[in-house]
Amino acid sequence: QAFFRPIHNAAPPSPTNRHTKITVVGAGNVGMAIAQTILTQDLVDEIALVDAKADMLRGEMLDLQHAAAFLPRTTILASSSDYAVTSGSDLIVVTAGARQVPGESRLNLLQRNVALFRGIIPALVKHSPDAILLVVSNPVDILTYVAWKISGFPSNRVIGSGTNLDSSRFRFLLADHLDVNAQDVQAYVVGEHGDSSVALWSSISVGGVPVLSFLERQQIPYEKEMLEKIHREVVDGAYEVISLKGYTSWAIGYSVASLARTLLRDQRSIHPVSVLARGFHGIDGGDVFLSLPAQLGRGGVVGVTNVHMTDEEVQRLKASAETLLELQSQLDI
Ligand code: NAI
Ligand code: 2OP
Repeated sequence: QAFFRPIHNAAPPSPTNRHTKITVVGAGNVGMAIAQTILTQDLVDEIALVDAKADMLRGEMLDLQHAAAFLPRTTILASSSDYAVTSGSDLIVVTAGARQVPGESRLNLLQRNVALFRGIIPALVKHSPDAILLVVSNPVDILTYVAWKISGFPSNRVIGSGTNLDSSRFRFLLADHLDVNAQDVQAYVVGEHGDSSVALWSSISVGGVPVLSFLERQQIPYEKEMLEKIHREVVDGAYEVISLKGYTSWAIGYSVASLARTLLRDQRSIHPVSVLARGFHGIDGGDVFLSLPAQLGRGGVVGVTNVHMTDEEVQRLKASAETLLELQSQLDI
């Protein structure tokens, strides 16, 4: 006898809304911060986790499943070897790979993580040919290019988490300086996620007031040094966290969950993320992924906003692109 009996005169169940599924590859610090943030935000019906370490992965899956009574209902699956568990994903977040030791640059991880992507990406594509790929592993911009090349996906469906995180760090520091809520501060960091990122000073506005033109109109001396210092803190921020706790996790967890919401719920919001940047702002040296403010929706990248940049900012962005292209040229992809 069934545990539940249908009520009198009940119709057969009607088809429910479409099932939504996310896969997170790499269940380390970053993958688990992303998975748990997504779970608490009720974004999907199913989360699949993949990691090479079978016991650790099963432990993480069980630990999350044991929170079921406190969370929205979400199926959690995990496998260390069988990518069938990822089948039919709408969004795939890749966090697998080596991370920096204190003082090491993101770019230094390149060879190790490219080798790993050669194994991971084809298996993911086979099981979810229509998914959006969201790359988080570092160096994120070059690995997004690598994922694009290996997957054969159209460029709108391959995105790197890019400077969505750097921009959040920037907004936090500006908000702290001005003693205002970071959600009221608009500001973009673009270019490479990391050392050669470019802060767009003219993009900064607080409560709808453009900060630079306000300062100029009021004839308040332009606080260039202060802004440069804040950008330096953005670049150094990850190194500081890594030297203190060994890795970064919470901020990237929230950053990726916000991208997942925009993508899966077709929010059409603008995020600075790593996209195929060829043809924008005079970047013409080749196919390179770096962050620009992009509108995102259910199909991935809807478009790139035509943000104003000064000549100096364009030069810095192009230098960031050159750095990435130079490293890419050494890859056999
Ligand atoms: P972690 O070492 O805690 O986790 C990495 C996981 O990848 C491990 O559990 C490992 O078993 C797994 N893995 C390795 N090879 C695999 C394979 N072939 N298949 C499946 N899983 C595999 O490292 P953490 O701290 O989680 O960082 C992960 C990556 O994310 C690093 O590359 C790090 O630099 C990057 N990262 C990127 C950020 C961004 O803003 N783009 C922010 C923070 C970290
Ligand atoms: C971060 O910026 C290390 O890329 C990583 O937190």
